[in-house]
Amino acid sequence: MAILITGGTGYIGSHTSVEFLNAGYEVIIVDNLSNSKVEVLDKIKQITGKEVKFYEADLLDRVAVEQIFSENQIEAVIHFAGLKAVGESVTIPLRYYHNNITGTLILCEVMSKYNCKKMVFSSSATVYGMHNAVPFVENMPLSATNPYGSTKLMIENILNDLYVSDNEWSISLLRYFNPIGAHISGLIGEAPNGIPNNLLPYVAGVATGKLEKLKVYGDDYDTVDGTGVRDYIHVEDLAAGHLCAYSYVMQHTGVEAVNLGTGKGYSVLQVVKAFEKASGKTVRYEISPRRAGDIASCYASTEKAERLFGWQATRDLDKMCEDSWRFTSKVNS
Ligand code: NAD
Ligand code: UD1
Repeated sequence: MAILITGGTGYIGSHTSVEFLNAGYEVIIVDNLSNSKVEVLDKIKQITGKEVKFYEADLLDRVAVEQIFSENQIEAVIHFAGLKAVGESVTIPLRYYHNNITGTLILCEVMSKYNCKKMVFSSSATVYGMHNAVPFVENMPLSATNPYGSTKLMIENILNDLYVSDNEWSISLLRYFNPIGAHISGLIGEAPNGIPNNLLPYVAGVATGKLEKLKVYGDDYDTVDGTGVRDYIHVEDLAAGHLCAYSYVMQHTGVEAVNLGTGKGYSVLQVVKAFEKASGKTVRYEISPRRAGDIASCYASTEKAERLFGWQATRDLDKMCEDSWRFTSKVNS
């Protein structure tokens, strides 16, 4: 029996593939390479010494998805594949809705047909919207502020409805906080195309000299130093969380939304300082106006993940920055 990892050549998917391979599972990856490179497969092999079966295919292509299920015995799906850039989702919403939602519908239909009813889905802390108080707890009211967030919220609802219609399903909705860092080998990590939107890749770009200076979006929030606070989580901790979620769905039925975060928040300036320490470089920055759609603070309640999965993050911010820097230095060397 194999585990199918959709979006497995992407940032979080590649680290999770390594985690499953190291734990002895047979892994099959499907990815259309729209936001990742095929070379990642070699890196995964270098790290684990193991082969991964790869299908270059789009989840929107039902025939291709059916082929994967007809050629393999798949016991569970870890579903990462999706488009994830918030700003882009505002510009091309139809593409986001089509890719993320239709892709998931087709996947679920094919899974149902092949009697594979175990899924771990990549949701996001973005579903907590703008009006909840921190720490975010799984049963808080949810909302979306952009098309990307809407796709996550809609898919959560679709998967809940699916379970109501067929109680054999077992689904974990993992709400990630802010994944950063890279594999300790420095071989895989996050390498966004073009100018990064997220904080860590931007800070790394300034540290390497590729970008001139960081714009800090607002220093007048009600936080420790006025800059935005987020729950940064090491991507390797996140990957380990998927293994625990997989074990959980294999032993239970139902749908559970679970936060994957550290429960600790760090401000933009604290991240800048930690990155400077890890890299030995100066990260130039200037204070800029707030970014539309941002909230002051976002961090997780980790109680449910600990209770259900027996999982908690172990790597601290310094380690996240060190590993990020090792990967960035390798990519730029
Ligand atoms: P990523 O872009 O690195 O990986 C996603 C992968 O999915 C890419 O390799 C891409 O080529 C592939 N893909 C996209 N659409 C596809 C399709 N229709 N068919 C086949 N493959 C397709 O992103 P990531 O950071 O690894 O995120 C993985 C998942 O986690 C996404 O669903 C994302 O929305 C979610 N998430 C990410 C973050 C984050 O900060 N990185 C936070 C919360 C949630
Ligand atoms: C963003 C997305 C969120 C998504 C998450 C992970 C928005 C509004 N939200 O979250 O939906 O789930 O990424 O992909 O895009 N910052 C700067 N300067 C920068 C970049 C960021 O000061 O150049 C600040 C932000 O204001 C924020 C913090 O750094 O306080 C983190 O920002 P970012 O990495 O973009 O993540 P989020 O906004 O938390």
